[in-house]
Amino acid sequence: MKTTKFLICHLSAVAIGLFSLASVAGVGEGKELYDAYCQICHGGLGEGQTMGKPLTDGVANRLSDEDLLDVINNGRTGTGMTAWSSSFNEEEIFDIATYVRVLQGKPGLALADDQRGPSDDPMVVAGEALFNGQAACVSCHSYNDQGGSVGPSLDGVASRLGSNLEQAVLNPSDSILSGYAAKVVEQEDGSFVTGRFRNDSELAVQIQSEDGRRWVTYFKDRVKSIEDSSESLMPETYATLGAAEQEQLMAFLRSL
Ligand code: HEC
Ligand code: HEC
Repeated sequence: MKTTKFLICHLSAVAIGLFSLASVAGVGEGKELYDAYCQICHGGLGEGQTMGKPLTDGVANRLSDEDLLDVINNGRTGTGMTAWSSSFNEEEIFDIATYVRVLQGKPGLALADDQRGPSDDPMVVAGEALFNGQAACVSCHSYNDQGGSVGPSLDGVASRLGSNLEQAVLNPSDSILSGYAAKVVEQEDGSFVTGRFRNDSELAVQIQSEDGRRWVTYFKDRVKSIEDSSESLMPETYATLGAAEQEQLMAFLRSL
C-alpha cells in the first residue's frame, strides 16, 4: 500500500515536470493528520488559535513550498512549533503540507521544482509583471504594502476568496466588496464624477478619485445628485486578456 502511494507520487511528479505546470497533488491523509495533530494550535481552518499563529495569513501564504516543508519537518527553535519529521514519514509530511496549501485556497504544492519558492515560478513571475504593467492592477491594489488604495489589498486574497477568486476578477460588478463601492456625483454643469465613497456627513460627501490620488469633498447643496453606483470601480481588464495571460495573472494572485 505504502509503495503504491509512493509510486503514484513519483509518477505525478514526473508528469508535472514534463508539462511544467503547478501541480494539483492529492491531499491523501493530510486532512486527518492535520485535524489530529495541528488543529489544536492552528485551528480547524488554519485560522490560528492561542498556541499557534494563522496558517492562512500573508506570511504563511508566502512561504515557499520548500520553507513550508522545512518548518513542518524541523519546527522553529524556541517556539511551540516542534519538529514533526520524527513523527511522520516523508509522504505524510507531504500530505499535511498539501492540506495546508488547500486551507490557503491553493491547489496544492507546486511540485515542478521543489527547490524553488513560488516567486520563482515562471507563471507567477509573468503574472506579477502583468499585474504591475500592462494590466495596471497595481494602480488600485496593493500587495506586500506596495500599490494603490482604491481597491482592497490583495495579500491573502486566494484564501479569502477561494474558488470565487476568478469570478471576482472576471465580473467585478457581480458582487462588490463592502467598503469599496462607488458613488456617482452629478455636478451642477451636468458632468459626472465617479470615485470610491469614503465619508459622508450631513453637508458633504467625500470621494476618492478613480486614480486614487485625490480625495474630493462635494457639498450636497452644490451638486445635482449623489448616487450609489451599481458598477464596481474595477475595470473588466481581466476579461480582455488572452487565456495565457489570464492563467499567469491567476497564478500570481494565488501566490499572494
Ligand atoms: C503546540 C502548538 C503547535 C502545534 C501542535 C503545531 N504548531 Fe505549527 N506553529 C506553532 C507556533 C507557535 C508557530 C509560530 C512559530 C514562530 O513564531 O515562528 C507555528 C508555526 C507554523 C508554521 C509556519 C507559519 C508561518 O507563517 O511562518 C507552519 C507552516 C506550521 N506551524 C504548521 C504546522 C503543522 C502542519 C502542524 C501539525 C503537524 C503544526 N504546525 C503543529 C505551534 C504549533
Ligand atoms: C480602478 C481601480 C481598479 C483596478 C485598475 C483594478 N481593480 Fe480590482 N478592485 C477594485 C475595487 C474598488 C474592488 C472592490 C470592489 C469590488 O468588489 O468590485 C476590487 C476588487 C478586486 C478583487 C476582489 C478582492 C476581494 O477581496 O474581494 C480582486 C481579486 C481584484 N480586484 C483583482 C484585480 C486585478 C487582478 C486587477 C488587474 C487586472 C484589478 N483588480 C484592477 C479596483 C480596481
